[in-house]
Amino acid sequence: MPEVKKAQVIYALSKVQDPELHKDLVSLNMIKDVEIEDSTVSLTVELTTPACPLRDRIKHDVEQALLSINGVDRVEVVIGARVLEDKKIKDLSIKNIIAVGSGKGGVGKSTVAVNLAVSLAKCGANVGLLDADIYGPNIPLMMGVESLAPSVNQKKIQPALAHDVKIMSIGFMVSPGQPLIWRGPMLHSVIKQFLMDVDWGELDYLIVDLPPGTGDVQLSLVQTVPLSGGVIVTTPQQISFDDAARSVAMFKKMSVPILGVVENMSFLRMEDGTLRRIFGEGGGEQLSGVAEAPLLGNIPIDEKIRVGGDQGIPVVLADPDSSSAQALEALAQSVAARMSMIVRG
Ligand SMILES: Nc1ncnc2c1ncn2[C@@H]1O[C@H](COP(=O)(O)OP(=O)(O)O)[C@@H](O)[C@H]1O
Ligand SMILES: [Mg+2]
Repeated sequence: MPEVKKAQVIYALSKVQDPELHKDLVSLNMIKDVEIEDSTVSLTVELTTPACPLRDRIKHDVEQALLSINGVDRVEVVIGARVLEDKKIKDLSIKNIIAVGSGKGGVGKSTVAVNLAVSLAKCGANVGLLDADIYGPNIPLMMGVESLAPSVNQKKIQPALAHDVKIMSIGFMVSPGQPLIWRGPMLHSVIKQFLMDVDWGELDYLIVDLPPGTGDVQLSLVQTVPLSGGVIVTTPQQISFDDAARSVAMFKKMSVPILGVVENMSFLRMEDGTLRRIFGEGGGEQLSGVAEAPLLGNIPIDEKIRVGGDQGIPVVLADPDSSSAQALEALAQSVAARMSMIVRG
């Protein structure tokens, strides 16, 4: 048997691509702990996203690449994940803060935020979800949780926990139906508290559900913490597009990198398999052009998505095999992949 050299192993791995990041594993600095013992090679691939659907594929590709080296007949691959931290975030142990925004209400921003958070948590990431829509807080309803956990320590507010996601919302503090009127300084202080005085612990991702539009909450947020990335939700039609274009301008003005655009309610799948484009088409693509950022997903109109929201069990948990859940999970993976590329710089 010829002796296997580390250089050969590295060379072989430099031909294996991360299917989401479209770069090879060596340039991505993902290969750790290479050991060669006779004809056995062992190593760890450290992914930078909680890319659960891709793990098996990457493992398989690595095994194939290494087994093709003359002299290797056994490969032991461990797949690990370490989400990269946005170094701009200083005062919190949160690696990435991702804001979900839209130009107007009712486009499915909270739905996207909730399913994004739950999908990432399902893959093993530590995730928090901050309901910054202080005018219409509906994250508690959509996550099926009514109250905060009792506080164990006096200094920090314990977030609620549902579906493995830590949650904070003004909805926990006011009675339902009570109108929320905010004055500027109050609003600023509540946003600041939500970030700094909540016991978030160590998070890979904090997903922030912004209020619609481009107002004071967005400003208060960026004055308190740097946002690592923004996701903009729109529907396919032109009217919603104009509003969403203002969100693009807002993220740009606040120097928040735009991860991409989500087109929600893109189509309705009919019984015979055809797609009906009830809300028109093209909004997402157009907006992605304006944002100079990718269209990260097209989410169908589906009663299951609405029911998931109303019942507090997001569709990615309630019916993970449905095509809607899969579209939302794929979206979460794309968001995480984009985030890791931006943090990497
Ligand atoms: N793709 C979808 N298919 C079916 N219903 C949806 C979809 N996206 C959102 N909804 C429903 O539309 C309503 C508004 O969505 P929501 O996420 O609350 O919007 P926003 O946060 O932008 O105001 C909710 O009842 C939600 O369940
Ligand atoms: Mg909402």
